[in-house]
Amino acid sequence: MADTKRTATLTFDNKSIEMPIYAPTVGTDVIDIRKLYAQGDVFTYDPGFTSTAACESSITYIDGDKGELLYRGYPIEQLADESHYLEVCYLLLYGELPNATQLQDFEGRVTRHTMLHEQIHYFFRGFRRDSHPMATMVGVVGAMSAFYHDSLDINDEWQREVAAIRMIAKMPTVAAMAYKYYVGQPFVYPRNDLDYASNFLHMCFSVPAEPYVVNPIIAKAMDRIFTLHADHEQNASTSTVRLAGSSGANPFACIAAGIACLWGPAHGGANQACLEMLREIGTVDRIPEYIARAKDKDDPFRLMGFGHRVYKNFDPRAKVMKESADEVLDLMGIHNNETLKVAKELERIALEDEYFISKKLYPNVDFYSGIILEAIGFPTSMFTPIFALSRTVGWISQWKEMIAEKDQKIGRPRQLYIGPTKRDYKDIAER
Ligand code: CMC
Repeated sequence: MADTKRTATLTFDNKSIEMPIYAPTVGTDVIDIRKLYAQGDVFTYDPGFTSTAACESSITYIDGDKGELLYRGYPIEQLADESHYLEVCYLLLYGELPNATQLQDFEGRVTRHTMLHEQIHYFFRGFRRDSHPMATMVGVVGAMSAFYHDSLDINDEWQREVAAIRMIAKMPTVAAMAYKYYVGQPFVYPRNDLDYASNFLHMCFSVPAEPYVVNPIIAKAMDRIFTLHADHEQNASTSTVRLAGSSGANPFACIAAGIACLWGPAHGGANQACLEMLREIGTVDRIPEYIARAKDKDDPFRLMGFGHRVYKNFDPRAKVMKESADEVLDLMGIHNNETLKVAKELERIALEDEYFISKKLYPNVDFYSGIILEAIGFPTSMFTPIFALSRTVGWISQWKEMIAEKDQKIGRPRQLYIGPTKRDYKDIAER
């Protein structure tokens, strides 16, 4: 922690409490309030953690005003253009880009862990056929702690490493199996001769009845989607993984908690909700109606795929995603895609509207990703599982960083209690 020797003083009730201010390598300074309760007998109040840094981290940095996203210092645009997902996984996990030998070794280790324990297949069959693949994933990933007993000891660095590799390697298999189960097709085993993205496409789209050849351009677009979603510092699901992990829970249980949190429409579920919204709008002439609804304080409707807690200029992932959407649709020969037309026009109108300008609401990563995934052939219910599999490396890197901390403590927020004061129990006849 960089100590700048600056302090902040909080004065109240004739008390004066001095607190250190720390400077990050880049970004906003933080005031260390850890002694506040002991010295001042008060808590801070920050629902939604809008002003609270809950941890130190050296993995990902976002500058919301500049619209900048860095993984270990590298801009997301450069990684999306020049790197590939497994190299990005290595970077997030270990802090540096790998050399050729390190990359080969890492890819080998991930590739050798792609299969799931055969008995997990029976676990899938316990779900209803029409289960949302996210529901299946939460269950199956949590259940992995019942299958991989040799990577559950969080105090053993080697076991933590094995759990990380297993999770990155097996998550595409879990997501693809959840999809196959949902569409009623046989499970497809991983192919270790394929790259990470191609193998995922193979497990989702090949069937025993005929050969399936992965289109390399589609595989590249898929890989890019994985890279763009790989990490995003202390968002809701990552904070959930950290909080679950702070109690000493095993890594599979923690990642299952992260998947559950990601599912919500304000977070990873927005990609499904966004495409459904674009389809519901249907044609560009109906856009004003939806813009009016989004601005109406009495209408709970929000433009899905718009707005972000941190980005207040633009979401750099959305820019890359928009380019990819054009490329993929072009490749698939989809030239008059009504959904893409609606998306582009909605973006144009919203970005000229005073409501969206004044609230700094811009398209986020989820605005264009659904259009690409739909063109590739995924149903909307698979959008959030694909986000989950991409984010697994971020979750596990942040979890590993936390567990390795010397003074790691269980996460335990306080509250502003507004319930009844102490009162006596009344017999049911007297109530
Ligand atoms: N459409 C219309 N108004 C909006 C929207 C939107 N999408 N997003 C925010 N606002 C308004 C909101 O009503 C509020 O207005 P006021 O100040 O008058 O009450 C103001 O903007 C600030 O909103 P907030 O809810 O306080 O902001 P937040 O930082 O708590 O929420 C958000 C961020 C992403 C949850 C929110 O913008 C949202 O619900 N967006 C739609 C869902 C979505 O696309 N989520 C994906 C986020 S990116 C991928 C990920 O991280 O998973």
